Amino acid sequence: MKHLLKLSDLTSEEIVEILNLADQLKYEKKNGIEHKHLAGKSLGMIFEKASTRTRVSFEVGMYELGGNPMFLSSNDLQIGRGEPVEDTARVLSRFIDAIMIRTFDQAEVEDLAKYGSIPVINGLTDYAHPCQVLADLLTIREHKGKLQGLKLCFVGDGNNMANSLIVGCIKSGMSVAIACPETNKPDAEIMAWAEKNGDFVCTSDIKAAATGADVVYTDVWASMGQEAEAEERKKIFAGYQVNEELMALANDGAMVLHCLPAHRGEEITAETFEKHADEIFDEAENRLHAQKAVLVMVMKD
Ligand code: CP
Ligand code: NVA
Repeated sequence: MKHLLKLSDLTSEEIVEILNLADQLKYEKKNGIEHKHLAGKSLGMIFEKASTRTRVSFEVGMYELGGNPMFLSSNDLQIGRGEPVEDTARVLSRFIDAIMIRTFDQAEVEDLAKYGSIPVINGLTDYAHPCQVLADLLTIREHKGKLQGLKLCFVGDGNNMANSLIVGCIKSGMSVAIACPETNKPDAEIMAWAEKNGDFVCTSDIKAAATGADVVYTDVWASMGQEAEAEERKKIFAGYQVNEELMALANDGAMVLHCLPAHRGEEITAETFEKHADEIFDEAENRLHAQKAVLVMVMKD
């Protein structure tokens, strides 16, 4: 594995390998066992959007692996003033050992990888959020003891989270039901791939999607960059809320996951969020362990 640009680039075996290494690194951390696999290596972290979890987990993760994380805000980089990504990629490749980038356009991430000579990790684009989904799979496997054969229902916008969940879950042998309005479906190519390669449905019938689910997942109705549409989106997604009535249709013991940040009273009720807070914050913690596994896999000599 040279980069982590999107989950469709990974094989099912590579996903399992990341999850297994994440389990091991988590165990080592909890037991005070040193694991400085990236001593002397530097990670540049380019952020063109806000972040709490991604920034902190990558920064702490690199530190725990013995390496050096560098926060690079696009407000301060020349990239924010129009320096081409091709040049940024080649310059950074001369200084550091890997790049993590959070930005808008997936093409920018792919271009960094194309023009640079060091590993690139996608820390979220409008198209995908692969690091989050690796942490999600780790959390589901921890709580349920397996992935194969479980049903995940995603409720809400067919956004970056929906796209990456479809790919990650189908590659892990799960079935996926997306509940979203007709106007806000996930990426058409990803859906066509999922229909061919697994048990996949996309419907506007939220009840049908949630029935028999082992994991119910939701995300904000307005993603970063869509702030101006927030009021309009509240109308579009009004019926797409995870609440106790919906959870009654899911399997007994079904988990609720949310990538966070959450908007209580919109995509999820405060009641359902708090009932499942342990799962949701395990999921947040697992960003650290899953990303450390990715960093080791792409950066270790
Ligand atoms: N879930 C997630 O990526 O959180 P941040 O936006 O805080 O990084
Ligand atoms: N869909 C959200 C995910 C945040 C982690 C966004 O892109 O803002």
